[in-house]
Amino acid sequence: MPRTETPPAAVAGSEPVFSPALSPQEGVEAATDLFREAFGAEPDGVWYAPGRVNVIGEHTDYNGGLALPIALPHRAHLALRRRDDRTIRLVSPQTREAIDVLDLDAIGPTGTPGEVRHWNAYVAGVAWALERDGLGPLRGFDAALYSCVPLGGGLSSSAALECATAVALDDVCTLGLAGTVDTPDDAGRARLVEACIRAENEMAGAPTGGMDQSASMRCRAGHALELDCRDGSVVHVPFDLAAADLTLLVIDTKAKHSLVDGQYGARRDACERAAEILGVPLLADIEPGSLEAALATLRASKATDAEVLVARTRHVVTEIDRTRRLVALLQDGTPLTGEKLAQVGALMDASHESLRVDYEVTCPELDVAVQAARAAGAHGARMTGGGFGGSAIALVDTAAVDAVARAVVDAYADHGFAAPAFLNAVPSAPAGRLV
Ligand code: GLA
Repeated sequence: MPRTETPPAAVAGSEPVFSPALSPQEGVEAATDLFREAFGAEPDGVWYAPGRVNVIGEHTDYNGGLALPIALPHRAHLALRRRDDRTIRLVSPQTREAIDVLDLDAIGPTGTPGEVRHWNAYVAGVAWALERDGLGPLRGFDAALYSCVPLGGGLSSSAALECATAVALDDVCTLGLAGTVDTPDDAGRARLVEACIRAENEMAGAPTGGMDQSASMRCRAGHALELDCRDGSVVHVPFDLAAADLTLLVIDTKAKHSLVDGQYGARRDACERAAEILGVPLLADIEPGSLEAALATLRASKATDAEVLVARTRHVVTEIDRTRRLVALLQDGTPLTGEKLAQVGALMDASHESLRVDYEVTCPELDVAVQAARAAGAHGARMTGGGFGGSAIALVDTAAVDAVARAVVDAYADHGFAAPAFLNAVPSAPAGRLV
């Protein structure tokens, strides 16, 4: 979701500001209070879904490649009560003065008369998509949103909202797909993910690839999710950073980030055209060993932007390879220290360079954040998510978190950027019910 406020400028030497995650109890209370205030009734329950950061594997999902996200402790909370009619009423702290009222029979995709505006598209869109998937007809519902996933920070605040809605509707409409957080039904969750992606693509008009929704719905606490976007299969990769005295520090650049302004879609379109020229369904079909031959084919093609297609393809194929290698390192059973830690950091650094030079989705705020973090001792740093703003991540000794965060604040002040915010990315649980 886009952010609306203009953040203040960074001031050298000032304290880094961390965005805390609400505890489950705080999330329940905040969403329930808002629900009571808006609708004068008790909700049926409170559900949540996390934001995510991607450790590596960027812009690979819509190319059928690998990604490696973790779920954040920062969550969207949804207090919801099923209705007996087809009306949807929605409220958030920003809209508490004016409850939005929608009709499940009248809503439709972006660009049609039933278009749904703003964040309502992510909630109502999931109900709409579940019905299109043959899971209806559903009842309407009243819902109050209280989220602590930073908006517009590239941390999947919208996917969190979609997934919270999906698990809530799964429950109150007894669809029986999600299972519980402790005993998740992964196949059922994968089906809910499809509805969330459809809501994002068709109702919100963002042509995203599905990594965010899969992370929010299918991650496990203490693990990263190796997601094979060709067939949707997953491997839960142990990622206990605390045991290695490491922290995955998120740097929210506060720079504008949007997935509906055409740049994201342009990258996706370039990949599809490159695959077509290469005669493969997906760029993930190009093995690293065939990359040079594939690039030669693109250069020899009649495409007017052949060099752009070369660069985009090089990023995708090398990024999938980096992801595979990083997963192999994490899975070898040895502690994440020494040479192994250096290799993980180097893969993260190389990912950022590829996204900066070949994929051209970074921006000055992201580049300065990773440079400052590395200079202050991070083992590796890279942008995460779609890019064009949003967030970067840095793998940091826990004892050095404060020094790295201060170095980023100071670098931002030097460049006249807005003050960044920081989050501690502890690999957390997937979407579920709280009460
Ligand atoms: C955004 C999209 C995802 C994915 C990433 C880039 O987060 O929503 O589908 O494409 O960008 O890896």
